[in-house]
Amino acid sequence: MENRNGDFGLEARTLSKRYEDGVLALDNVSFSVGAGQIYTMLGANGAGKTTTINIFFNFIEPSEGEALVGGIVTHKEPLKAKTKLAFVSENVMLYPNFTAIQNLDFFTKLGGNHDYSKDDYRDVLLRVGLQESAHFKKLRGFSKGMRQKCGIAIAILKNAQGILLDEPTSGLDPKAGFEFMQLLDELRGENKAILMSTHDIFRAKEIADVVGIMRQGRLLVEKSRQELAGENLEELYMQYMVGVEELSNKPQPV
Ligand SMILES: Nc1ncnc2c1ncn2[C@@H]1O[C@H](COP(=O)(O)OP(=O)(O)O)[C@@H](O)[C@H]1O
Ligand SMILES: [Mg+2]
Repeated sequence: MENRNGDFGLEARTLSKRYEDGVLALDNVSFSVGAGQIYTMLGANGAGKTTTINIFFNFIEPSEGEALVGGIVTHKEPLKAKTKLAFVSENVMLYPNFTAIQNLDFFTKLGGNHDYSKDDYRDVLLRVGLQESAHFKKLRGFSKGMRQKCGIAIAILKNAQGILLDEPTSGLDPKAGFEFMQLLDELRGENKAILMSTHDIFRAKEIADVVGIMRQGRLLVEKSRQELAGENLEELYMQYMVGVEELSNKPQPV
């Protein structure tokens, strides 16, 4: 796979997923994300974004095709693939009765890493922008933005080459969302391969190296940063949402 640095990458190869109840959630989806790249999946609810991410973690198996993490097929060697991945979801699952530091300690050790000191936890929390006064407070009282910072701190400590984020900025206030994007930008600079789903068209355009628009399980179009430079992504997105067929039936403006 071609990318800026190194060979690591995430790849979906002709991925399809039909759930047990017959819903075709993914229909022949292929894309790749290189090291040092951010790939953003845009699409309405039900488009198949979470299903895609879940296949990378082998939370579910594909019906056809495969997801690869650094060349490893996720449903064949799930544990090996997972060591190379970190996950940040919209609702980070952390312990409300633990402090920020305790959560970091718990989840990094759960992930098999016992090498970090309290100073490392402090440094990473400061890096993600969690003020020191909050480090020893229980998460119960944290805002969503603060919880999200803890979640990305855990992802950073895992030091994974691939980072998958499912609507990470949903429900964040504008400042928290902005800071989150800055962090992603830094992680890209550290050569991570980053795959993110979002509903935020503005941020997708700002941060992504490639934007993929999904609808009803299909990847309809991919646009690189260069291709998007002169485009109105919101307009483009709307065109793909209503469907080309419907658009062509509409009266054209004169
Ligand atoms: N566990 C499941 N069982 C059956 N259908 C599901 C399941 N999870 C998701 N779906 C369906 O698959 C489609 C894609 O869903 P999802 O991947 O969650 O989309 P998105 O994250 O883009 O909103 C939807 O039609 C959804 O209802
Ligand atoms: Mg989803």
